[in-house]
Amino acid sequence: MKTLVTGGGGQLAKALLRTTMGGHEVCVHGVETLDITSPRQVDDVVGCMRPEMIINTAAFTAVDDAETDEYSAAKVNDQGPGILADAARRYGSRLVHISTDFVFDGSSRRPWLTTDPTNPISVYGRTKRDGERAVMDSGLEEWTIVRTAWLYDGTSPNFFSTMIRLMNERDEIEVVSDQTGTPTLADSLANAIWCLVESGTTGMHHWTDSGSTTWHGFATAIEEIARETGLLKSKTEIRPIATKDYPTPARRPGFSVLDMTKTWKALEGTRAIPPVDWRENLKKLIKEKVHV
Ligand SMILES: NC(=O)c1ccc[n+]([C@@H]2O[C@H](COP(=O)([O-])OP(=O)(O)OC[C@H]3O[C@@H](n4cnc5c(N)ncnc54)[C@H](OP(=O)(O)O)[C@@H]3O)[C@@H](O)[C@H]2O)c1
Repeated sequence: MKTLVTGGGGQLAKALLRTTMGGHEVCVHGVETLDITSPRQVDDVVGCMRPEMIINTAAFTAVDDAETDEYSAAKVNDQGPGILADAARRYGSRLVHISTDFVFDGSSRRPWLTTDPTNPISVYGRTKRDGERAVMDSGLEEWTIVRTAWLYDGTSPNFFSTMIRLMNERDEIEVVSDQTGTPTLADSLANAIWCLVESGTTGMHHWTDSGSTTWHGFATAIEEIARETGLLKSKTEIRPIATKDYPTPARRPGFSVLDMTKTWKALEGTRAIPPVDWRENLKKLIKEKVHV
């Protein structure tokens, strides 16, 4: 299947390339060659390539910066997906668009369903929610939106690589322990996206690794596994702190675990790998030194 992937410099686009399945002709564009906020450039690229599938991973992902640059965040996270959906409709492509757990306000006590009402509490979350609506309201029939959470790989700037750097530099760090979510290896999301593409699944979906933890729990697991495997030489004390003691420009949901039942039902019987416990995927990344 001829597939166009946007956001080529980002961690999910790289994971999609690493996990490509046979039978896909994949063309990845970074912002330099395909700025999704430019209707003309989108029209040129989609019109010339005529992809059967567009996977939009491009986004303004600097959650705190979005608070003071709503214009740029909205342009990429809201207008961009609308422009892509419009091109997909005109050229007969399907569209997979990636969204986020930050569309929810964090108030639930059980994992969020795809049908739960959104109520973002940050500019980033609001612009991503508006991007979902832009896709759904575009008139494109075959769209798939996949919300995910706490994405990481071994090399991109993310929580994992920041923790490894800090743990190499310090013998004590403080990490927030009252936000709960699911760390998700970029490659396992990429694999699920390819399976959604191949199975022709449409609609709203959730995909993360399985289980849940806090940022403090995630940092503690990184420290333990990295020390076991020799990636870290000495112990770092990880002290839990409350969100109120670590003020950031953007508010973040206190509980953003996503329910994947609907998506796994859609994928059962395909070559999709069932959701793997987040800690197992973390071990795999560190032990196999995949991209570390
Ligand atoms: N990372 C997470 O924890 C997380 C969690 C939940 C959902 N998501 C969603 O998952 C998707 C993939 O995230 P990711 O972690 O791969 O993000 P990422 O690493 O920040 O990659 C996003 C890419 O989009 C590019 N981009 C920015 N503006 C663009 C534009 N106008 N046109 C084309 N490309 C543009 C960025 O380029 P520059 O770097 O040059 O700006 C970057 O390479 C996004 O939709 C994100 O909202 C991510």
